[in-house]
Amino acid sequence: MTRLIYYTATTLDGFIADPDDSLDWLMRQDQDEKGPLNYEDFIKDIGAIVMGATTYEWVRRHEPDQWFYSMPAWVMTHRDLAAPAIEGVKADVRFASGDVQEVYDLMVAAADGKDLWVVGGGDLVGQFADAGLLDEVITYIAPVTLGAGRPILPRRYDLELIEATQNKAFIAARYRFVGPLKEDGAAAG
Ligand SMILES: NC(=O)c1ccc[n+]([C@@H]2O[C@H](COP(=O)([O-])OP(=O)(O)OC[C@H]3O[C@@H](n4cnc5c(N)ncnc54)[C@H](OP(=O)(O)O)[C@@H]3O)[C@@H](O)[C@H]2O)c1
Repeated sequence: MTRLIYYTATTLDGFIADPDDSLDWLMRQDQDEKGPLNYEDFIKDIGAIVMGATTYEWVRRHEPDQWFYSMPAWVMTHRDLAAPAIEGVKADVRFASGDVQEVYDLMVAAADGKDLWVVGGGDLVGQFADAGLLDEVITYIAPVTLGAGRPILPRRYDLELIEATQNKAFIAARYRFVGPLKEDGAAAG
């Protein structure tokens, strides 16, 4: 069954990018690319991806001559953004806006039984989570704090830790998404 997975890297204090969208703190970390929860193994099972406009623009800015994703990709935006037009590179990029349920249904159909990757950012993941569509969070936790930046998941949820291990500089952890945070008041009642 198709699962929606948020696979990302975060600082110890919960940011996936700094306030200027820099990932320099992440790029300089040591990791074993064949080690636990590595990207290469993860991406093999992914049949469609979705990302927010800021993430898409970051990817285009940093890799203007590349598009690394062979599967259909959706970009959530209110704006008229251009799809990658790179000679010799096939990029299946579709733009969408509004209700993530509609995008999810299209992604499931495109993925043909494989899993779905929500690349980020955090609020977009929250939109899928609020709609009951998020299944798992896999994160590499870097030994860095930033104090401010783009949050990993800026809403109140419960998750269950399934796996936690070290990959060089990182804690690599996998969580099952449970649902809205069980608040103290609700637990007492
Ligand atoms: N550490 C990591 O592994 C990792 C992973 C992913 C991303 N990142 C970084 O984290 C940062 C994330 O940026 P971000 O927090 O701004 O999030 P984002 O999700 O990348 O972009 C947010 C934007 O997406 C658009 N959007 C989101 N939901 C939408 C909807 N339902 N309908 C239409 N448009 C929608 C809006 O753009 P418009 O209204 O402007 O069109 C919104 O401002 C980026 O710098 C990215 O590079 C890091």
